[in-house]
Amino acid sequence: SNSNALARAAGKLYFGTATDNSELSDTAYVAILSDNTYFGQLTPANSMKWDATEPEQGTFTFSGGDQIVSQAKAHNQIMRGHNCVWYNQLPSWVSNGQFTTAQLTSIIQNHCDTLVSHYKGQIWDVVNEPFNDDGTWRSDVFYNTLGTSYVDIALQAARAADPGAKIYINDYNIEMTGPKATSMLNLVKDLKSRGIPIDGVGLQCHFIVGEVPTSLQSIMQQFTALGVEVAITELDIRMTLPATNALLTQQETDYKNVIAACKAVSGCVGVTVWDYTDKYSWVPSTFSGQGEACPWDANLQKKPAYSGITAAW
Ligand code: XIL
Repeated sequence: SNSNALARAAGKLYFGTATDNSELSDTAYVAILSDNTYFGQLTPANSMKWDATEPEQGTFTFSGGDQIVSQAKAHNQIMRGHNCVWYNQLPSWVSNGQFTTAQLTSIIQNHCDTLVSHYKGQIWDVVNEPFNDDGTWRSDVFYNTLGTSYVDIALQAARAADPGAKIYINDYNIEMTGPKATSMLNLVKDLKSRGIPIDGVGLQCHFIVGEVPTSLQSIMQQFTALGVEVAITELDIRMTLPATNALLTQQETDYKNVIAACKAVSGCVGVTVWDYTDKYSWVPSTFSGQGEACPWDANLQKKPAYSGITAAW
């Protein structure tokens, strides 16, 4: 069986992938993307971000996100909305704005409400990457204006917009024991204790071959013990190029271990790869000299990594 069929058989909601609008004109790519035995869920890599959806204050553009939703719906795939509030890919009217707390509160509320209302019935990454790697809060317009309350404001607006949506906070480098995971655990505890709505924590899982954290499963269990679900939201496992057979074999083991960790945690609802093919991976343009992070190669052929995924499910 294929990756999503196996994830479903293991009791998970989905095995999914990120995709992007420009990729939807590649017919060979779309043929695999559309096969819901492989993928039961899609995440738009860019087209629901703030710069794409509200480039000017109060002017919303849904066309890019709508196209991904149509692609998903046509093949019975569920969607993760990505994302409402993030310091990056933020239009300058927000990032450079000088706002009072009341103004920025209503800007966040309007943005989250409009997105989550338009894209109903989804899972949503409502807050993305709130922490620095040392566990301190990221210094951005949201934190600098509102302090940590911006998280409450965003989550409450998202819940009110669609009580049926699953609302998440999503981050990277929270997949291993350390200060950043501790801060996220403490944030979830704090939100729960104050009755602020939160359904899940997304662990991005942008990993390096041979360096999958051994505490991944234990960390997921620590989150689910707080009464939230978890998901692996942006999995890729990059290597320093050129690829060798040894690296591709290690990558197979690494993918297997990540899937096995999710499988073992009952509150881990699914796994999303950050695009399924090296043809469209964000890695080479972001991490110089690195790549081949995905389970399908640039010619849309399955790599050993794909066998690691199916073996673990
Ligand atoms: C990346 C996209 O894949 C790229 O196309 C874009 O240029 C930059 O953003 N963490 C996230 C994602 O939450 O939104 C990022 O996506 C990758 C890191």
